[in-house]
Amino acid sequence: MKVRKAVIPAAGLGTRFLPATKAMAKEMLPIVDKPTIQFIVEEALASGIEDILIVTGKAKRPIEDHFDANFELESNLREKNKTELLKLVEETTDVNLHFIRQSHPKGLGHAVLQAKAFVGNEPFVVMLGDDIMEDKIPLSKQLMNDYDSTHASTIAVMKVPHEETSKYGIINPEAEVSKGLYNVNSFVEKPTPEEAPSDLAIIGRYLLTPEIFHVLETQAPGAGGEIQLTDAIDTLNKTQRVFAREFTGKRYDVGDKFGFMKTSIEYGLVHPEVKDNLREYIIELGEELSKEQASKKK
Ligand code: UTP
Repeated sequence: MKVRKAVIPAAGLGTRFLPATKAMAKEMLPIVDKPTIQFIVEEALASGIEDILIVTGKAKRPIEDHFDANFELESNLREKNKTELLKLVEETTDVNLHFIRQSHPKGLGHAVLQAKAFVGNEPFVVMLGDDIMEDKIPLSKQLMNDYDSTHASTIAVMKVPHEETSKYGIINPEAEVSKGLYNVNSFVEKPTPEEAPSDLAIIGRYLLTPEIFHVLETQAPGAGGEIQLTDAIDTLNKTQRVFAREFTGKRYDVGDKFGFMKTSIEYGLVHPEVKDNLREYIIELGEELSKEQASKKK
């Protein structure tokens, strides 16, 4: 069966960005001038996804508005002949988007469960806004290609520094069945480095079969008292094969402050409007900081 649907959970509290996220969705924070969630929607579309469900929560209305038409703004830009800006604004309105609210943020697994009626009996992709992925073939498409041959759930993973395993779901790989594709023994949510069975961490892209919903319906809360998607995937793996696909492209972690700042700088350095000034500024700042450091050492 063809994979046509994607689910983007965006109902988390975004506590790592407080106070910015007190009244605003973290998915609307921009990388230079584009909200992070737009990168995710663009990846879905580039992968051939036809319908997208965004799971939203409180303070998430701006996400819906962002992907809706804004007549006042559009007619203003049209009157002023700002065609380039008009194109940018209109670009985000022609997408098959659906929204559902997760009334209580009980965890990622619980957010995905809200997509049960939308997904029905089809395989689907889950895409998290915390990660922007870049590769020749979009990562979601890579998982969809895997599904074409395995007809099984496939989870994207990436090597992370060993001391950081407690920030991720980690896989215990059994065997590499083809280049970069693993059979998995078990999936463990946020293990300490001592307990971690590998350094292969689950990153924010999942291709799941609809049987995951049966598991999620009875899934008990796990790490952090939340209903964890990783735990449900581990249970699913006991009744049907679940694979892991190692991602070798570039991952931008925009889910925490430092990752977000690094991503903003890297995207700024290739953005036609700001790249030259930013580059010059970074070089000057770098020189100043080096002098400062050198004088501290004296
Ligand atoms: P995070 O662990 O990044 O949580 O969730 P968060 O609440 O967004 O951010 P912090 O850690 O408090 O700063 C991973 C993804 O799962 C979604 C989030 O929106 C994010 O995209 N999520 C998490 C939900 O949709 N619902 C939940 O109950 C929890």
